[in-house]
Amino acid sequence: MIVIPGPSSLGLGWRIAERCGVEPQPVEHRVFPDGESYIKFTKPVFGEKVVIVQTTAPNPDTRLMQLLLMARTAKDFGAKDIVAVVPYLAYARQDKRFTELEALSLDVIFSLLECSGVTDLVTVNIHNETSTRDVERKHRVRFHNLSAVPLLAEYLKKEGFDKAYSLSPDKGAIYIAEDASKVLEGGYNFFEKTRDRKTGEITMAVKDLNISGRRAVVFDDMISSGGTMAKAVEALMAQGAERVAAACTHVLYMPGTEEKIRKAGADPIIATNTIETPFSRVSVAGLIANKLKELE
Ligand code: R5P
Repeated sequence: MIVIPGPSSLGLGWRIAERCGVEPQPVEHRVFPDGESYIKFTKPVFGEKVVIVQTTAPNPDTRLMQLLLMARTAKDFGAKDIVAVVPYLAYARQDKRFTELEALSLDVIFSLLECSGVTDLVTVNIHNETSTRDVERKHRVRFHNLSAVPLLAEYLKKEGFDKAYSLSPDKGAIYIAEDASKVLEGGYNFFEKTRDRKTGEITMAVKDLNISGRRAVVFDDMISSGGTMAKAVEALMAQGAERVAAACTHVLYMPGTEEKIRKAGADPIIATNTIETPFSRVSVAGLIANKLKELE
C-alpha cells in the first residue's frame, strides 16, 4: 500500500501512513501564480493500492482539483486500486436537488472521482449518509463513511462532561446525539431547526429540556458560519445549563465563527483534525488507518 498525504492533509496523511506501518509518499506540488496546481508523484505506483489523503477545505475547489490530479496520475501510471480518503468532502451538503434546476453537486463530485480512477471513497461524518448512498448507487465508487462522534464524546468525558446531556441541532442529526450519549450516558435529544433556503436564516424551536444546572454538549457534523451551533448553545444556556460544549467533526473556520459561538456561551469548542484548525483536539488518524487495514 502506498499512502500519499495530499497537500491539504500533510499532517493527517503522515499519521495515517505511520499507523498503517508504511512510509508516507508526499507528492511534489506547487500552485502557479494564476491559481492552477501542479502535481508530480515522487515514486512509481504501478500495481499498487494507492491511498490519497486529501481533505477539501479550506479552498474546496483547489483542493478537489488537486485530489483529481493525484487520482488520475495514479490511474495513468497503473495503480491497482485508488482509495481517496477525503475526511471532509466539500459539496456533500448539496446531495439532492432541493429546488428545481439546481446542480446536484455531490453527484458531479462522484462522477469526477470515478472518471479519475477512484475505486473507494472514505469520508468522516459526511453530511447525510443516506442521501450519499443514493448518489453512490449511480457510480462505480465504493463509499465508506466513518464516525468520529464516539471519539469526540470520549474526549469530552475526560474533560468533565461525563453524564452530560447530548443534543443535535436538528432531527436529521439525532443519530449523532444518540451515538454520543452511548459514551456520555446523560441522555439525548434534538432541536427543531429550519433554514430559509434563500436567505440562509436559521430558526430553532426550543423544547423544555429540563437541563437546569446540568452540563450539555451540542454535537453536529460541521460548523460553517457558526449560526446553527450558536443558536443551539444559546438556547441551552437560556434554559439554565451549567456549562455547554460545542463539538463537531469538521470546522470550516470562517471569519466571525468562533466569536459567534463563544458569545453564545460555548466552552469548550472542539473538533477533529479532518480540517486542521485551532479547535482540532481529536485525531481521526487511527479511525481511518483501521478502515484502510480492513480494506486491504
Ligand atoms: C446542516 O444541516 C449541518 O449539519 C450543519 O448544522 C450546518 O452546516 C452548520 O452550518 P452553519 O455553521 O453555517 O450554521
